[in-house]
Amino acid sequence: MKRTNIQFLLIIALFFVLSISASSPVTADDVQKLTGMKFVQLARGGMLYDNWMAELGVKIDKTHPSYPANGPQKGSGTWRCKECHGWDYKGKVGDYSKGSHYSGLTGIRSYANMDPVEIVKILKNDTHAFGDRLSENDYDALALFVSLGQIDVDLFINRETKKSFGDIASGSRIYLATCIKCHGVDGKEIDMSTDKNAVLYIGTVANKNPYETLHKIRWGHPGTPMISLLFLELKEQLDVLAFCQALPER
Ligand code: HEC
Ligand code: HEC
Repeated sequence: MKRTNIQFLLIIALFFVLSISASSPVTADDVQKLTGMKFVQLARGGMLYDNWMAELGVKIDKTHPSYPANGPQKGSGTWRCKECHGWDYKGKVGDYSKGSHYSGLTGIRSYANMDPVEIVKILKNDTHAFGDRLSENDYDALALFVSLGQIDVDLFINRETKKSFGDIASGSRIYLATCIKCHGVDGKEIDMSTDKNAVLYIGTVANKNPYETLHKIRWGHPGTPMISLLFLELKEQLDVLAFCQALPER
């Protein structure tokens, strides 16, 4: 009885995610097929997209063989999905169309709502070169994320101003009941900067990179106990982003 209830809640939560994230309609059948465990797998996929090496405790030093030789990045970071395809999932036509993360590669948007089985084939190809560094379960989770987890961020974040279309007051209630525990009331409890001469608070990163921040809000932060807000509606996740953008940047 209890398990049925939990599965029911997960399916409802997923329905909200799907109803907003899908660029083409997802049928009731598709949702029916997603049991509680599928939801867990989807949530894992979003985390692996961010940084599968941190999540799996894998260490790689060399640059990914398919990362363009003249690209600006080097080393292990080039193995992260986000490095080649972007935080906004739009690759060279998105936020990584220029600057220190420009690789000239495509995004993954055209694979939204695709059959995960077809996506696994792409992830296992020679271009991706992941081999057995990822388990079958990891491949399935990533494919589920590509198919059902990614969203068209331009519907929810203004590309010019970088501002979330969410509601700050609503977001504050969620932030102040969850994120506050680790990041503090003003988002400055943890300085996430690796550069001694700069700070990186929630307010800093949310304004600098709203796409990354939204991804972290939805899926969590790999290799840490940070929570995921995937169980909320996308609208509420955008509200949290709006609140984060109102926090002090320094
Ligand atoms: C080193 C760069 C690199 C990394 C890292 C990378 N990819 Fe790719 N990916 C590519 C290239 C190259 C293609 C072929 C399309 C192209 O030429 O841009 C591609 C294609 C894809 C496609 C098909 C997109 C299309 O429209 O053809 C999907 C989906 C995809 N990758 C998902 C992922 C996922 C998920 C991860 C992380 C597990 C990942 N990729 C990591 C380079 C990368
Ligand atoms: C249980 C503790 C915990 C909670 C709760 C938590 N976080 Fe985090 N968060 C972390 C840790 C730890 C990091 C990694 C810090 C580092 O890199 O030094 C992190 C990283 C982040 C980052 C990544 C910044 C970057 O540039 O890498 C963002 C954004 C973020 N958190 C936002 C949030 C938001 C929004 C919430 C509420 C929905 C939240 N966090 C809740 C612990 C938490």
